[in-house]
Amino acid sequence: MERVRVGVVGTGSIFRGAHLPAYPEIEEAQVVALCDNDPRSLGAAARAMADLYERTAQRLEERGEKERAETLRKDAQKVTLYRDYREMLKKEKPDLVEICTSPDAHAPIAIESLKAGSNVMCEKPMSRTWLECLDICQAVEETGKFYQHNENWLYDPFYYTVRKFLDAGAIGEVVALYLNTAHPGPENRLFFWDEKLAGGGSLLDNGIHAVTASWFLAGFDTRPVTVKAAAPIGIAQRMPLRIIDGRFRPFRVEDDGHILILFQEPTTGRWATAHVEGSWSHPDSPPTAIYGTMGMIRPTYEDGRLHLEITDSFGRIRKVEASGPTWTFWPSSFYGEIKNMVQCVLSGVKPICDHQVGAESQAIVGAAYLSQARGQKAVSLEEYKEFALAIRKKAGKRANEVLIEEQLKALHKTVTD
Ligand SMILES: NC(=O)c1ccc[n+]([C@@H]2O[C@H](COP(=O)([O-])OP(=O)(O)OC[C@H]3O[C@@H](n4cnc5c(N)ncnc54)[C@H](O)[C@@H]3O)[C@@H](O)[C@H]2O)c1
Repeated sequence: MERVRVGVVGTGSIFRGAHLPAYPEIEEAQVVALCDNDPRSLGAAARAMADLYERTAQRLEERGEKERAETLRKDAQKVTLYRDYREMLKKEKPDLVEICTSPDAHAPIAIESLKAGSNVMCEKPMSRTWLECLDICQAVEETGKFYQHNENWLYDPFYYTVRKFLDAGAIGEVVALYLNTAHPGPENRLFFWDEKLAGGGSLLDNGIHAVTASWFLAGFDTRPVTVKAAAPIGIAQRMPLRIIDGRFRPFRVEDDGHILILFQEPTTGRWATAHVEGSWSHPDSPPTAIYGTMGMIRPTYEDGRLHLEITDSFGRIRKVEASGPTWTFWPSSFYGEIKNMVQCVLSGVKPICDHQVGAESQAIVGAAYLSQARGQKAVSLEEYKEFALAIRKKAGKRANEVLIEEQLKALHKTVTD
């Protein structure tokens, strides 16, 4: 069987915890190289891969699948470790580069990988700023290689099954979406809290899942048109001094973001509004729900299993288990995104969650920051892009740093006040 040769750059938490476990389950992929500039992270990933592949091989042997078990053992032995991604690109020439580094490294690694002839899939957010996304988009267009924006929520059982029911007309036309995501915050790592490395805080890091997923549910045939920081909280620091990497520290990004996005389909004028919250503390917004002209859908659990509760306009309730082809095992949504891209590369079909989806999702967040900086006034995507391009023209090489500073200006004012 022809396999896609994958080189991984960035072997920290998300790679070891969520991406690595998917690979032995994807027969069409071979991880040929692991790369990380931190030798501890690289060593931990190499050990985790050896353990996982051996355990999986033993299980496969018990089931009589000797050939696949042997392939996994050989893959684990053959994988090459690199500290420098340029060396990895040169020596391995991977079919696919998977990027799981901090956002500051996404754009340079993606661009160099594309130019070296590899396809790329990269963790969210696509980069620190929309301007960096433009550079990646240019490299995709110039090289003709594929780029997948790795938004795992598209492969999540709930959102995927909702899309299925929306397409079937179960609640009529989508009108409003409430999507929120909150976790206590990545307090064990510094880069998430550093605007120069991350580009933003909880909205860009965590809320971006709900941004892209709400667009997926509104329909990728719609366009994000206008964005607003949502009153009363908008984009804010709820807990200005937090324990980060072991001690109380101030930080310069948001730990909560509430925004409104208007998505509109250009030919019919159909629109839907999304309210998105991305928090590193707790959710304040109404629970996740999708409203249509004839009903609503929300997630519920029945006997510990995730269901869609679909209420029609007569108040009748139908419960359907969230299901699909790509979540046979945890962590299913990561398995889904990797399998999708590997199959895209093999079949020569462009992924649907591509560089443009990644870049527009980033522009939505950028426009939301600008809206907050402008007193929570609505900002059109067009206006935001003009604003960012004007900074690029004026600030040249410093454009990304200036854009980040401008976007988070309102927040920094509060922090230093
Ligand atoms: N999809 C999700 O649900 C999800 C969850 C967590 C993190 N993430 C994303 O994954 C990315 C990584 O997050 P993480 O939590 O794994 O961080 P991490 O710090 O645990 O891992 C990042 C790794 O990248 C390495 N790295 C950084 N720059 C590099 C370079 N130039 N060359 C080689 N290696 C380099 C670091 O040494 C580190 O080992 C971020 O973009 C984050 O937003 C996504």
